[in-house]
Amino acid sequence: MRYAGIKQFLNERLPLEALDTHLRKPLPKHINLLFSLGSLAMFLLLLQAATGAFLAFYYSPSPEHAHNAVTYISEEVPFGAFVRGLHHWGASAMVIIVVLHLLRVVLYSSYKAPRELTWIFGVLLLLIVLGFGFTGYLLPWDEKAYWATVVGVEIASTAPGLGDFVAKVMRGGSEIGAVTLSRFYALHTIWLPWLAFGLVGVHLFFVRYYGSSGTPKNTPEEMKTGKPFYPHQVFEDVVGMLILFVILAAVALFVPVPLEDVADPTNADYDPRPEWYFLFLFQLLKYFQGPFEIIGTFVIPTVGMLLLLFLPFIDRSERAVLWKRPIALTVTSLCVVGIVVLTILGGTSKKLETADAALQETSQPTEQTQETAETEEIEEGEAVFDFQLTEEEIEGAKAVEE
Ligand code: HEM
Repeated sequence: MRYAGIKQFLNERLPLEALDTHLRKPLPKHINLLFSLGSLAMFLLLLQAATGAFLAFYYSPSPEHAHNAVTYISEEVPFGAFVRGLHHWGASAMVIIVVLHLLRVVLYSSYKAPRELTWIFGVLLLLIVLGFGFTGYLLPWDEKAYWATVVGVEIASTAPGLGDFVAKVMRGGSEIGAVTLSRFYALHTIWLPWLAFGLVGVHLFFVRYYGSSGTPKNTPEEMKTGKPFYPHQVFEDVVGMLILFVILAAVALFVPVPLEDVADPTNADYDPRPEWYFLFLFQLLKYFQGPFEIIGTFVIPTVGMLLLLFLPFIDRSERAVLWKRPIALTVTSLCVVGIVVLTILGGTSKKLETADAALQETSQPTEQTQETAETEEIEEGEAVFDFQLTEEEIEGAKAVEE
């Protein structure tokens, strides 16, 4: 009785019946488990947000405290190691699931008209997911975090025209230090989550607006005769989420998250490695040295991304499953095999020369580093910022105080 009363109250005020009818609309007939990958990606995004919010209770984005805070979370906080494990391995799972989701869309040519915008927002989401990975890697402020970021920023600086500016904005000055860590933390916990949830909202709006594309096997009549989205598909998605969570929880419990020694900017012998999903890019740099460096650092990644972004406008062939599209099949296979081989080579190879050069540069104290060090002795805390006050400004401020 009470339930019926609440239902009536809500129905009179909200379009719940229309929503119910919409959610119960049948999906296309041929839908398989691969169609749950998008929902799994969404689940992981929410899990990352939840575990990240918990970690933020204890984390402190400063070179003096970050490493200690992460050690404290892993060793002292109840369930800290588990939650950190979920967040760490969840990030890798997110990359795997999003890439599988992308491949499923390619497999059934679901990016073709009218779903071009759904695809474009998807590619932007892929970039955001990689952005989460890159900015999160610095936060523990251990050796691998520091040196991988040195190389990452060095790579960004090779972009023609804007490279130096982009690198300076990323670092928040001329060196990787306190401001860089604050910036990466802000990007990781504020900018990227807002962007991600905004883009997911638009992506899902398009998904619902155009309806699921199903597989190319569907005849036009079969497009509206499958099982309903709610409760059938939702049930399958939730089962998938539970299985994924159990696997992640087991990994988080039994595989410790690595944490190296605290970052040492003078350790020129360090062999920097990015997170595994950036290894293929890292390996690519080896084949383009000297004046050709820019091909590996900028040209190939940028052209690759642009081709991916505009794929629906480049591939105008009829909709069909991937193995019935020989060109698409060849290109996709070459890309997948190329990325896998480069990743394996990157993971097993020796120190990178390009990275070496970046390290040498950074570990030699420049005039500016020395200046900063001197200032640090005088005005501890303030010196890490680029915009230090001039003597006149300090005098002016004192005069105002008096
Ligand atoms: C955080 C990342 C992402 C989330 C949360 C997400 C979520 C979803 C969901 C829930 C669906 C509907 C279910 C399904 O078809 O699997 C979907 C469909 C779709 N997604 Fe994503 N997605 C993400 C990334 C991507 C990426 C990287 C691409 C491709 C570059 C992409 C392209 C598409 C397309 C074209 C559809 C429509 C498929 C169809 O109608 O058959 N998405 N996405």
